Amino acid sequence: MRRATAADVEAIHRLLVANAADVSLFQQSDDRIRRDLDDFVVAIEAGQQVGCAALHHHTRANTEILAVAVDPHAHGRGVGAALVRACMTDAARTGATFVWLATGKPDYFARYGFRRMSKWRLPPRVVLRKVRLVLEQPMHRWLPALLGRHTFMWLPEQTPPPI
Ligand SMILES: CC(C)(COP(=O)(O)OP(=O)(O)OC[C@H]1O[C@@H](n2cnc3c(N)ncnc32)[C@H](O)[C@@H]1OP(=O)(O)O)[C@@H](O)C(=O)NCCC(=O)NCCS
Repeated sequence: MRRATAADVEAIHRLLVANAADVSLFQQSDDRIRRDLDDFVVAIEAGQQVGCAALHHHTRANTEILAVAVDPHAHGRGVGAALVRACMTDAARTGATFVWLATGKPDYFARYGFRRMSKWRLPPRVVLRKVRLVLEQPMHRWLPALLGRHTFMWLPEQTPPPI
């Protein structure tokens, strides 16, 4: 597991595309990945990027885990768990007090202690950023996202979510 560098942009893009069948995983252009590169970690196996995840600090306290994607050939080997745990550790290290994510796989993230929350807990600025990302998606992803098919979750162990 290591922080992503510019040399990983293509591989991150490949990992997102490889999991594109999962409509809850937002796709990102190379440009967007490059812009947010500091957010990403990559999992390496035998010199290859087999997974990625991002931790985006909306504010110092408010931190989102996103873009968790594992090479389909490496699913079920603990790569996803290592990525989620790395993000959680990093969030705690940086003093984030509200760690959250939006997912189509709530049962998967519940394994790590994430619990459901209302998306209305998110500050409007954060919701707007999410909406912008939704609108960058191919059209067939808009509907499930805008119809609220994603489950929003947060980590209660940190501290209470903002009112
Ligand atoms: C979800 C994902 C990240 C999991 O990565 P992974 O490396 O395969 O997961 P791990 O090996 O760490 O964990 C596998 C365990 O999670 C369980 N699991 C996998 N998907 C699950 C789901 N949707 N709901 C509940 N449990 C799930 C497996 O049954 C397995 O359980 P076990 O350890 O008891 O055998 C991966 O499948 C993926 O990249 N999916 C497509 C992209 C995606 O959906 N990302 C999340 C979007 S928000």
